[in-house]
Amino acid sequence: MKKINISTSAVVYENLSELSEEDRGLLAEALKATHNSYAPYSKFRVGAALLLENDQVILGSNQENAAYPSGMCAERVVIWRAGASYPGVKIKKIAITATSQNTKVDKPVGPCGACRQTMLEYEVNQKEPMEIIFMGETGKIVKTESVVSLLPFSFDASYL
Ligand code: THU
Repeated sequence: MKKINISTSAVVYENLSELSEEDRGLLAEALKATHNSYAPYSKFRVGAALLLENDQVILGSNQENAAYPSGMCAERVVIWRAGASYPGVKIKKIAITATSQNTKVDKPVGPCGACRQTMLEYEVNQKEPMEIIFMGETGKIVKTESVVSLLPFSFDASYL
């Protein structure tokens, strides 16, 4: 028996001015995407912006449903949009942010577990890491160099 330690790393920025222009621009697009969120139930509007390898930016936002589990997170909306409309085009980065009518979102909004799993599939397939950048309405910004760094011991097609 042995205990293993798994480590991951992320860069934490104190404010937007520390980011590259590209990352700042992508977060601004993610904020724009929150405007098309449909979140009448949670009032938590999430926006996600993908930067493709051809420098195209595509947006997605969470879309809720009166039958709650039928709703979908912003990250999966945008990643499936990329898969459906731009197959084979690699994803360089994804930026995520959120606003809320109920609270002040002042800490970074990391993608949920199911979204991490979904993004991982695309990262594995494209054989190149995609960066994940996330923040709240205000506060610190977190950037990881890949999806796999957010999801240790993950499941992928190699098991099947
Ligand atoms: N949500 C996302 O869009 N992304 C996440 O990673 C976490 C949660 C959405 C789902 C739901 O519409 C609302 O936020 C509250 O959970």
